[in-house]
Amino acid sequence: MDPDEERRVRLENWAAMATGWERMREEREKIAAPVTEWLVRELAPQPGDTVLELASGQGDVGFEIAPVIGESGRLISSDFSPAMIEIAGRRGAELGLTNVEHRILDAERIELEDDSVDGVLCRWGYMLMPDPAAALAETRRVLRSGGRLAFSVWSSGDRNPWISVAGRILVAHGYMPPPEPGEPGMFVLGDEELLRGLVENAGFETVRIEDVPVHNDYPSVDEYVRRSSEMGGMFSRAWTEASDDEQEAMKEEMQGAFAPYAVDGGYELPGVALCAVAS
Ligand SMILES: C[S@@+](CC[C@H](N)C(=O)[O-])C[C@H]1O[C@@H](n2cnc3c(N)ncnc32)[C@H](O)[C@@H]1O
Repeated sequence: MDPDEERRVRLENWAAMATGWERMREEREKIAAPVTEWLVRELAPQPGDTVLELASGQGDVGFEIAPVIGESGRLISSDFSPAMIEIAGRRGAELGLTNVEHRILDAERIELEDDSVDGVLCRWGYMLMPDPAAALAETRRVLRSGGRLAFSVWSSGDRNPWISVAGRILVAHGYMPPPEPGEPGMFVLGDEELLRGLVENAGFETVRIEDVPVHNDYPSVDEYVRRSSEMGGMFSRAWTEASDDEQEAMKEEMQGAFAPYAVDGGYELPGVALCAVAS
């Protein structure tokens, strides 16, 4: 697929997911809270700072720091998806934030001046970009000297059964292609050493990476399927392609595969994010 066509498809996919993401905000933010807290703490924004959030989705991480940077500071809440930005704008207004500028920006070619921001945030964005090296180099370019980047990606699939177990079942049943090495995807930056190299090659001098565990609790496999269909573009596309019988067969397999994580009549599926701070 040529890059323009690929970008159009990615934008369409994110637009299709935006409403489900909005409905799932509260649940999503509860699960993501340990990662959000880590990013905010390590970015350590100060009153008056200009902070750029890349691939901000519906803006939730940046909105946590908007009150800290205050009226003399500025949050540039950005994403390449107009659908996500529209929802982020609505949410920012709902929260009464007045120091936020919502912008459509592609992280792989950021339309901002060199050395123009004090900090950059990006939660679960870089691994979904076709050229994360370019996005990290662009991030370095717009960050002033001494400024910090705080971001997260997912660790490897085997440390994230909350998503990889169902993914493997969908692949085995032919509803999802097996992940191609190097293609954008949830786990492509999940190797800590690879990630460190990528960040250093982008021109960052110091990088610290930590594991941050997250827990996804589901009362049943049905609820797992419902939530994943709301949030996950690939999951929902794959799931809706399957017949009722195939869906039942896959749910049974999920029940077996989730058994090691059973607690109190439901499941507690673990996950790990790699959180990084670089300057
Ligand atoms: C998994 S979501 C994360 C959203 C948000 N950061 C969060 O944690 O809730 C990934 C986001 O990356 C955005 N995205 C993907 N590629 C991008 C790019 N090249 N430039 C900017 N945003 C991009 C998508 O539109 C989507 O909103």
